[in-house]
Amino acid sequence: MEATDTLVTKTPKKSALTLRMVVLVFAAVCGVYICSICLEQIRTNTKNKFTGIKVLNQSCHPPSIKDLEIPYLHYPKPKTFSRDECVCNPVRFFAILSMQRSGSGWFETLLNSHINVSSNGEIFSVIDRRKNVSSILKTMDKVYNLDWFTSASKNECSAAVGFKWMLNQGLMENHKEIVDYFKKRRVSAIFLFRRNLLRRMISVIANSYDKNAKLLNGTHKSHVHSPVEAQILANYRPKLNVTLLIPELEQIEDTAAKAIEHFKSTRHIVLYYEDIVNNRTKLKDVQEFLRLPNRDLQSRQVKIHTAPLSKQVENWDEVRKALTGTPHECFLHEDKQM
Ligand SMILES: *[C@@H]1O[C@H](CO)[C@@H](O)[C@H](O)[C@H]1NC(C)=O
Ligand SMILES: *[C@@H]1O[C@H](CO)[C@@H](O)[C@H](O)[C@H]1NC(C)=O
Ligand SMILES: *[C@@H]1O[C@H](CO)[C@@H](O)[C@H](O)[C@H]1NC(C)=O
Ligand SMILES: *[C@@H]1O[C@H](CO)[C@@H](O)[C@H](O)[C@H]1NC(C)=O
Ligand SMILES: *[C@@H]1O[C@H](CO)[C@@H](O)[C@H](O)[C@H]1NC(C)=O
Ligand SMILES: *[C@@H]1O[C@H](CO)[C@@H](O)[C@H](O)[C@H]1NC(C)=O
Repeated sequence: MEATDTLVTKTPKKSALTLRMVVLVFAAVCGVYICSICLEQIRTNTKNKFTGIKVLNQSCHPPSIKDLEIPYLHYPKPKTFSRDECVCNPVRFFAILSMQRSGSGWFETLLNSHINVSSNGEIFSVIDRRKNVSSILKTMDKVYNLDWFTSASKNECSAAVGFKWMLNQGLMENHKEIVDYFKKRRVSAIFLFRRNLLRRMISVIANSYDKNAKLLNGTHKSHVHSPVEAQILANYRPKLNVTLLIPELEQIEDTAAKAIEHFKSTRHIVLYYEDIVNNRTKLKDVQEFLRLPNRDLQSRQVKIHTAPLSKQVENWDEVRKALTGTPHECFLHEDKQM
């Protein structure tokens, strides 16, 4: 009895021990297995993440793009917002280089009517931003990083970003460094000039007169949005100093030619206000230049001076006499409603 007793009690003890051993070994094996799976997963996860970034980065360049174009494609990472779904949409950089009263305000509103364009206005009209080269470059960095805020800053899906720059706003003085910057960062230059510099001159004088006279109910306006306002501003007919007329016209031509010469090694296009007014296909050329999807561009601005030139100048006879027989005589006759 005793023996069987012990035997009986011993057997379950022994089997319980082996069972425990089996469970322990099983648990250990399971643990190791789970651990190894975990490790494997972590490893493939990080690998996936890594290749994920690579794939994303590569696919940022559209497959159809030509190798030559790739340096012009930028993927800015703004500090102030996330480009979200457009993080892989390339952005191109541009600058409109122009002179006062050459239609650049109108041209810029046309460009900004494109959903993918953000042209931030005349940012270097503020003297502090053009005090020295470093503040000029810093300002451009901010614009091209999409961190510049104006009413024209678009959303995360801008495909072309730029601004408008008058030649007398630090551009000519610092042209060397600016050309280097344009070449390094692949900024495309859009020159916009006016062919009829006599008309431009009248516009400059009238605009400067209005700064003091404030013809529109006491506010000075450089651009208007209604024919009534345009008519009021156009009522002022300046008197031109005929002694200074030709030297001034020559000086403007000279400045424009010099600017093109300075920037000839950058990617650029030269446009004339009159050509755009007369031929809207020119706007297609601009969109093509910026590699934008072609759209119909609109502006609400109304032209101020629509009358024939002879009606816009007080001393027209003097002016006509001064220009007749000179290379600038054509300015007197080019009167295709502009
Ligand atoms: C793509 O990779 C390059 C080089 O590794 C890096 O400089 C660039 O910022 C990456 N672009 C994006 C959109 O992640
Ligand atoms: C450039 O001008 C800014 C102010 O506009 C000034 O803070 C900065 O020190 C100047 N830099 C140089 C190199 O002169
Ligand atoms: C233009 O903007 C639209 C709307 O924001 C966007 O869906 C589209 O991808 C953009 N196109 C380009 C070429 O960036
Ligand atoms: C100027 O003010 C008058 C009266 O307030 C108004 O009738 C007129 O339309 C205004 N003209 C312009 C050009 O804003
Ligand atoms: C035209 O400008 C010159 C040079 O500034 C000046 O000497 C001359 O008096 C001006 N003539 C008129 C009619 O204002
Ligand atoms: C209009 O502009 C386009 C593109 O620049 C040009 O090919 C065409 O000849 C122009 N048409 C006229 C009538 O000047």
